[in-house]
Amino acid sequence: MIIKHLELVDFRNHSHTNLDFQPGITILVGQNGQGKTNLVESIRFISTLGSHRVAGYLPLIQSGKPQAVIRAMVGVDNREVSVELELNREGQNRASVNRSKSNKFRDVLGLVTTVTFAPEDLDIVKRDRSNRRDFVDELVIQAIPRLAGVYSDYNRVLKQRNSLLKSARQTKTAGSALSTLDAWDEQLVKLGSEIIANRVALVAKLEPHVFAAYQAIATSNNEPRLTIESSVLAASFDEDEEELPSLTTSDRDEIEAMFHEKLAEVRKKELERGLTLIGPQRDELRIELGALPAKGYASHGESWSLALALRLASVELLKENSNTGDPILILDDVFAELDDERRKRLAGMVKLNEQVLITAAVANDVPDELAANQLQVKQGVVTVG
Ligand SMILES: Nc1ncnc2c1ncn2[C@@H]1O[C@H](COP(=O)(O)OP(=O)(O)O)[C@@H](O)[C@H]1O
Ligand SMILES: [Mg+2]
Repeated sequence: MIIKHLELVDFRNHSHTNLDFQPGITILVGQNGQGKTNLVESIRFISTLGSHRVAGYLPLIQSGKPQAVIRAMVGVDNREVSVELELNREGQNRASVNRSKSNKFRDVLGLVTTVTFAPEDLDIVKRDRSNRRDFVDELVIQAIPRLAGVYSDYNRVLKQRNSLLKSARQTKTAGSALSTLDAWDEQLVKLGSEIIANRVALVAKLEPHVFAAYQAIATSNNEPRLTIESSVLAASFDEDEEELPSLTTSDRDEIEAMFHEKLAEVRKKELERGLTLIGPQRDELRIELGALPAKGYASHGESWSLALALRLASVELLKENSNTGDPILILDDVFAELDDERRKRLAGMVKLNEQVLITAAVANDVPDELAANQLQVKQGVVTVG
């Protein structure tokens, strides 16, 4: 898949950017703060409805403007798909596909697949559980777009259930809340187990690709391992309990049974705390390198290689999973951070992808074998050459 044409109106510092893209490699060059990342962020946004820099979409609208628009023409095999997103400061956002208005913003999910690697990805290895969960969930949804609905239903049920638990605690009316709670439990378990099962299945498919990419990119030969640790197996129920057991099954019925059992076990505590203590919102993607958790143990260089391997593996997984060709690969500001050897290795691994968009402050940081179409970005204006 490739992006053929992109138009941005009042998207961050791009007041009006109108661009044709070629297949293969495109390098966006410009000094810091000129709008390179903003441009690739818009492409990522059509694909995931999220940004690698912010939660929510308001920061994407140019300051002082009521609305931002992203229009893209995407080539998939010999077909073309046009996608338009309108982000409004006030009122509903709108999406349309092939010029017909779609009802839901998330209907555009699945049309454009992208994989972005950016310095922020170090957070997946080094920071919080939520960074790792977001990585997995974004990939799950790109691989199986239908699941976006399951995630949003789950989050709604979780919110309702939490407020029920909270009010039961405050008013000490646990008795009458219990029957309503049972109904929510059914939904929580059903939707939550679908999420957990899909995470486990995805991580199992991803792991060999991470393994291979890490060997290709890193200079140490530690072996990476990925597992989903789940609260449905928790022994205690403290919110920030350090280690949860790893889940080895992706069978939904089995997971539902464990989830139900744990909920029954933990009910008293949930009523005391006024909070749901079991579910995918508490689970963890465990990343190990040479049998030690990467977080807290991996060196800076190893963490970089690992983060990069996770993204390169994502490309392989999405390729394997799709009939729409390669995902669009975005490398945002990464060459400056890599030494010569790893630059070369990375270049070798990505150069055959259908389309690769690279941003760099200094064009010379990008290895010669990737030298290709260049675009200059200056104060939100993009010029060719
Ligand atoms: N909503 C916005 N409205 C106007 N300008 C913005 C908005 N969001 C970011 N910017 C500007 O975009 C610039 C950063 O662009 P960015 O694409 O991150 O730079 P780089 O070329 O270094 O990747 C900053 O100057 C910032 O002020
Ligand atoms: Mg940038």
